[in-house]
Amino acid sequence: MSIHISAKKGEIAKVVLQPGDPLRAKYIAENFLENAKLVSQTRGIFYYTGLYKGKEISVGASGMGFPSIGIYSFELYTEYEVDTIIRIGTCGAYTTDLKVFDILNVENAVSESTYAKYAWEIEEESIAHQGKIFDTINNTANELSLKTKSVNIHSSDIFYRKNPEIPAIATKYNCPAVEMEAFGLFANAKHLGKNAATILTVSDIIPTHENISADQREKALKPMIELALESAFRF
Ligand code: HPA
Repeated sequence: MSIHISAKKGEIAKVVLQPGDPLRAKYIAENFLENAKLVSQTRGIFYYTGLYKGKEISVGASGMGFPSIGIYSFELYTEYEVDTIIRIGTCGAYTTDLKVFDILNVENAVSESTYAKYAWEIEEESIAHQGKIFDTINNTANELSLKTKSVNIHSSDIFYRKNPEIPAIATKYNCPAVEMEAFGLFANAKHLGKNAATILTVSDIIPTHENISADQREKALKPMIELALESAFRF
């Protein structure tokens, strides 16, 4: 047990897939894992552990934003001896160069957030993916003939903001899209010497307001889920 996860020690695998949404974690466990067991449901944040092609993998939610993913990833790394977290999420594209359903493997997460500074005295506004799981994801995507793009991502504290222009930090670091968690995950992994990656499916094109509809979402996320599972299996 940790403060926010009620699984017993040993009930969580070394590799964890982390979607934002607890119901997505449930969907993945029920549809992609064998013998999936619910090991925590504290605060409705479901964690499951099961087998993928015989390898033990856990899947559980991060919630939204740095405070939430900061808590769950820290407790997974420090209290459950998790080595590797693969965040699987959605993002909004700042540019029409990206299309809905595109899959991104995050190289660096950049943020105006003070999370890394005040948590770990990491002063940089850009934090890279951690360890070799990023490369495994790219190699796995090649093997599966799944097109992915390696990009920098803007990790923002803010979903709704007054100014509709692309934030300066996103332009500075050449970020074609925005989400709200990767920077917090990468900061924790960097501080703790663990592995972390983030795979994102483009769900919204911000300038055109095009988006993946709610009923398309389950099917739309399937390639990303399979990429994450196959990468976890190979890692
Ligand atoms: N902003 C931030 N996070 C997101 C978005 C967005 O437009 N779309 C999906 N995640």
